[in-house]
Amino acid sequence: AGVFTYDPGFTSTASCDSTITYIDGDKGELLHRGYPIDQLAEKSHYLEVCYLLLYGELPTAAQLEDFESRVTNHTMLHEQMQYFFRGFRRDAHPMAIMVGVVGAMSAFYHDSTDITDPWQREVASIRMIAKMPTIAAWAYKYSIGQPFVYPRNDLDYASNFLRMCFAVPAEDYVVDPILSRAMDRIFTLHADHEQNASTSTVRLASSSGANPFACIAAGIACLWGPAHGGANQACLEMLKQIGEVENIPEYIERAKDKNDPFRLMGFGHRVYKNFDPRAKVMKQSADEVLELLGIENNKVLQVAKELERIALSDDYFRDKKLFPNVDFYSGIILEAMGFPTSMFTPIFAVSRTVGWISQWKEMIADPQMKIGRPRQLYLGATNRDYVDIENR
Ligand code: CMC
Repeated sequence: AGVFTYDPGFTSTASCDSTITYIDGDKGELLHRGYPIDQLAEKSHYLEVCYLLLYGELPTAAQLEDFESRVTNHTMLHEQMQYFFRGFRRDAHPMAIMVGVVGAMSAFYHDSTDITDPWQREVASIRMIAKMPTIAAWAYKYSIGQPFVYPRNDLDYASNFLRMCFAVPAEDYVVDPILSRAMDRIFTLHADHEQNASTSTVRLASSSGANPFACIAAGIACLWGPAHGGANQACLEMLKQIGEVENIPEYIERAKDKNDPFRLMGFGHRVYKNFDPRAKVMKQSADEVLELLGIENNKVLQVAKELERIALSDDYFRDKKLFPNVDFYSGIILEAMGFPTSMFTPIFAVSRTVGWISQWKEMIADPQMKIGRPRQLYLGATNRDYVDIENR
């Protein structure tokens, strides 16, 4: 018995208090520790934003240098970890590999299970932020049958990731600063987003006191779905399927049809009922990156812009307050950078790792932390007597 609030999908239940990220869905506002996302995307860079999310303030130059060198020191994976990669089928989705390998890290870092020790929490946080690009890049290399590329610690976070993805043996690979800047911006725009499904998953898994690497693996699993992080892959696939501007109305009609399960991927958001501020920056980035890379008249970008225009002038989307979200334009940039669609969600996972960890650290440090334990509205059979098998 007892009185519970019934709230499927947690549309109106706050599961925690937090000082990390603020979203005003009606205004289309996103703040990290008070700083607007557009300013961070423009003026800051990913590792600085990581510091801000983790420790609450922007770092001084000395603090940033120290943080960057601590992250850099942990980018390597233990050589034995390669066996985990090699155990997967060669065509495994990189997200499947990431769930497995990150979960396996809990076996390498048993000491991290002592979450009461602040030093263990700190080192686990740094390890995860440092190693996630290596894991994602190696998942990619494995899926295309190329040798793993070791991290290079003289490079910045984004450049190192690009090199681990795209360098091949016996060829020099020089990171293009345009790509590096675009990569860093994509990481920054996805760094945290308060209590979204994967972050809530990490919090719920961690609330039992489990090993943090295992909890992050749970977050990666949740992120994979097309309603969440998988939307960037699904969105680009949709834009390509639409193919031509003249096909757009047919897809708009399908998205509006209640009997058709099709949805416009990259559109709509649980919290934003106005433009997703990340989508604005991403759209601008898509234009810049394609222009700088000399990719003129990109068909997919044309379809995306026209689709956005038509949807935003349609009553269905207006009435339901469906706007492009962060995933609408990110895939176009990632594809122009040379990534296959299967890498889009792993890149999201790399970016969001700092958000998961910051929220995890905040939760663990909260003296009021309790195990997450939702209740239910039971609609099943009432008490009845067991029937022997011969009498059923
Ligand atoms: N296309 C067509 N109709 C839609 C869409 C869409 N993309 N999104 C929502 N609707 C309709 C939906 O059918 C429903 O209509 P009705 O009230 O008549 O039943 C109404 O809008 C509300 O939708 P909902 O599913 O109840 O809303 P939600 O808050 O549960 O879902 C969402 C949010 C993001 C899962 C959903 O908008 C969606 O599936 N979008 C497409 C997938 C996507 O782009 N996901 C990425 C989200 S942002 C990044 C991230 O979180 O990883």
